[in-house]
Amino acid sequence: MKLWGGRFKKKESKLMEDFNSSLSFDKKLYFEDIKGSQAHAKMLTQCGILTEEEGSLIVSGLTSMLEDIEKGDLTIEGEYEDIHSFVEVKLIERVGEVGKKLHTARSRNDQVAVDMRLYSKKKALEVVELINELQNVISKLAEENPFIMPGYTHLQRAQVVTFKHHMMAYYNMFGRDKKRVLNAVELMDENPLGCGALAGTIYNIDRQYTTNELQFKKPVDNYLDGVSDRDYIIELISCFSILMMHFSRLSEELILWSSKEFNFIEIDDQYATGSSIMPQKKNPDAPELIRGKTGRVYGALISILTTMKGLPLAYNKDMQEDKEPFFDAVDTVLKCISMMIAVLSTLKVKKENMLNAVKSGFLNATEVADYLVNKGMAFRDAHGVAGSIVLYCEEKNKAIEDLKIEEFKEFSSLFEEDIYEFINYESILKRGIKKIMQ
Ligand code: ARG
Repeated sequence: MKLWGGRFKKKESKLMEDFNSSLSFDKKLYFEDIKGSQAHAKMLTQCGILTEEEGSLIVSGLTSMLEDIEKGDLTIEGEYEDIHSFVEVKLIERVGEVGKKLHTARSRNDQVAVDMRLYSKKKALEVVELINELQNVISKLAEENPFIMPGYTHLQRAQVVTFKHHMMAYYNMFGRDKKRVLNAVELMDENPLGCGALAGTIYNIDRQYTTNELQFKKPVDNYLDGVSDRDYIIELISCFSILMMHFSRLSEELILWSSKEFNFIEIDDQYATGSSIMPQKKNPDAPELIRGKTGRVYGALISILTTMKGLPLAYNKDMQEDKEPFFDAVDTVLKCISMMIAVLSTLKVKKENMLNAVKSGFLNATEVADYLVNKGMAFRDAHGVAGSIVLYCEEKNKAIEDLKIEEFKEFSSLFEEDIYEFINYESILKRGIKKIMQ
């Protein structure tokens, strides 16, 4: 079951075998490993290194293996060192001696590199697809809820905005996240197959052939680089980390807003849970878990950065440690996007409660100052007057717009009847940020 052994006198210990084996996790790469192997075998045939008959036996053997794996007739398990060993050994079992020719002009180092690039590209594009879907859900939610809400700084009510504008902030963040992932795909889109172990191969192979076959943009320029960098994985997880950071902020807001203290939204029952002791509880577990899983993705980033930082060129076995954190990060991100789509597409927005929070939050205090500025007062003085009005209102337990004109005049003779229209929330929005919100 080993791809090597000729130069060894002793058998590998069981302890070492278990320690070394990556099959339990790199079996995820079976599709890419088989596709990469087929491209390699076709190229060897094209270059006359394999005969037509040998090439087609290998390619069809690999096809039937892929079908059997996908049907569930061939399970990826056993005492194989990795997915590459599994595929090769099983191929030999299937097609006989000719299968032993597949690994001509190839090393597991360029093989694993090509598998990982293909897998990364595929998963990155799945992430992009899902972000598109998420953006559609956000813009629909925003469009359907153009209601006034308090905008916050320092988590203190600051100025009036709309729920739509608030949600579209996330739409824009996710738009950039998508571009970052696509940019990472653009950079990683190079074919390492043909780099061999580290120094290419003496066979007259055609790297452009496998490049076309596997739909890469170009072959890598440098063999050592091609087999020994994992920067594309690190870059992708960096993009995922930024995406998760955005997710975590949005989750935090959903959690706050669904508390009775805010009461701006209701998360659908399908995505909340109850308490085993407190009958009244409805907990926002979905966004809490998304916020929590952010740590896993950051962890994957730090893990792979640290694994790579001291490695001399070219391949080192340390690099096998890229897989578990990377696979976990990819799966986590995909699950979190799907969950966020589900939560947002069923979210109920409580228009009235947001409006009440606006009214009791003095969110038109800045406009009171602006009003006085329009009447000729310097902004700093106007700020002081508006501040005293807020203090007065707090003591009287009134909103600014509830003051009588006589009360306004106590603070400044510049106040006229038109103050009411000026500090009305709808008209504030019309004059101000509403312009960019449409
Ligand atoms: N399982 C290995 C990895 O993930 C595959 C490459 C093995 N190469 C080698 N020279 N042992 O990195």
